[in-house]
Amino acid sequence: METVKAVILDLFGAGTETSATTIEWAMSELLRNPTTMKKAQSEVRELLKEAHKNTEAAPTCSSSSPKTVPRACRIFNYDIAEGMTVLINVWAIGRDPKYWEDPEEFKPERFMNSGIDFKGNDFEFLPFGSGRRMCAGVSLGLANTALALASLLYHFDWKLLDGLKSDEIDMSESSGLATRRKTPLLLYAVPRKTNIGIHGLGSAS
Ligand code: HEM
Repeated sequence: METVKAVILDLFGAGTETSATTIEWAMSELLRNPTTMKKAQSEVRELLKEAHKNTEAAPTCSSSSPKTVPRACRIFNYDIAEGMTVLINVWAIGRDPKYWEDPEEFKPERFMNSGIDFKGNDFEFLPFGSGRRMCAGVSLGLANTALALASLLYHFDWKLLDGLKSDEIDMSESSGLATRRKTPLLLYAVPRKTNIGIHGLGSAS
């Protein structure tokens, strides 16, 4: 029972904050980049015009879980002793100008027609980690975030609180299991007038 409880706790811990954080950052970036928001909304709305249901879109994210080194080794000029805990800073790798053009810019287009893999084969982009201990829930995580994000973009237009401009959105980060927003993202959700119901969305704010 202890093991079963631990596994369930692990799945909730690893599966909820990561997905929620991905969606919150994606919305923050889209609100900061109204042209990209329009593009994403028209794409989702065009795709779902016929289907009347939500399917797939695209996410981002985080860090790597701590790894314990099984035997002493040397990486670059660092001696790593057996049993040491090592953290790989995939946040920094994902923003390294050696690998990325305008690394700080939100440019989802950079992934279009690009062969870059996000499931652990290309080490410059590791949103789900890599190797034996990479994310066990990658497929669920992708479907989950894509469905929620597509629903938000399909059914609503999004407005910032009165007086706030898109370049004034606070993008400060806090630390935690996943890098969450420091302040909540507060938005007005304006329902789109369609004759289609809202799938899987409880509250609109
Ligand atoms: C967008 C959503 C998600 C992101 C960005 C994400 C990201 C990650 C990352 C970066 C790791 C560490 C991998 C490594 O150290 O190499 C991880 C581990 C893990 N994730 Fe996810 N994850 C997501 C969703 C989920 C979901 C939905 C589940 C399950 C319901 C899940 C279950 C796990 C588990 C069990 C591990 C530990 C694997 C191990 O240590 O062997 N994740 N995830």
